[in-house]
Amino acid sequence: MTVLARAATEADAGLLLDWRNDPRTRQASRSTGVIALDEHSAWLRGVLASTERALYVVEFDGVPVGTVRFDREEEGVWEVSITLAPESRGRGLSGSVLAAGERAFTAGHRARVVVAAVHQDNAASAALFDRAGYTETAPAVDGFRKLRKTVA
Ligand SMILES: CC(C)(COP(=O)(O)OP(=O)(O)OC[C@H]1O[C@@H](n2cnc3c(N)ncnc32)[C@H](O)[C@@H]1OP(=O)(O)O)[C@@H](O)C(=O)NCCC(=O)NCCS
Repeated sequence: MTVLARAATEADAGLLLDWRNDPRTRQASRSTGVIALDEHSAWLRGVLASTERALYVVEFDGVPVGTVRFDREEEGVWEVSITLAPESRGRGLSGSVLAAGERAFTAGHRARVVVAAVHQDNAASAALFDRAGYTETAPAVDGFRKLRKTVA
């Protein structure tokens, strides 16, 4: 199987919006409302134009299965977030999706630390980041645990 993390484009807007508006994705997010297409498209254009964000779509044998995003927090420190296509969840794919996103990101950015904000009720995400080498740095704030991993 070929696993590829490619840079997202405006053509991914519909796909990314479907994944974002899925109820489990919203439950895991800081903002939980349903997002409309025009708002989403404006957000996506901003992300693609920003040097402080990096957005990838991960494909398995050419089929998009998930997305990984990195947002710059401060010099050398970036926050990662991951969403799998709802139909691709629960099959043990998330570790490969995250790893592909991390590889693509670190190849093109000078990052020292990657952090993740994981909702305290999100067991699958906690297991994913634990297995990927992230460790807890501080107690949960507003229900989100902050994890981190040194990448360079
Ligand atoms: C979080 C997410 C990426 C995980 O992907 P997934 O396909 O559901 O999970 P996987 O099948 O790859 O399993 C990952 C790990 O979680 C465990 N797991 C999966 N579902 C679980 C559940 N409901 N409860 C507890 N553990 C679970 C698996 O056993 C596995 O652990 P292991 O590696 O120790 O065996 C995916 O569920 C998703 O996109 N959720 C919505 C968005 C989201 O929550 N993003 C993360 C925000 S930080």
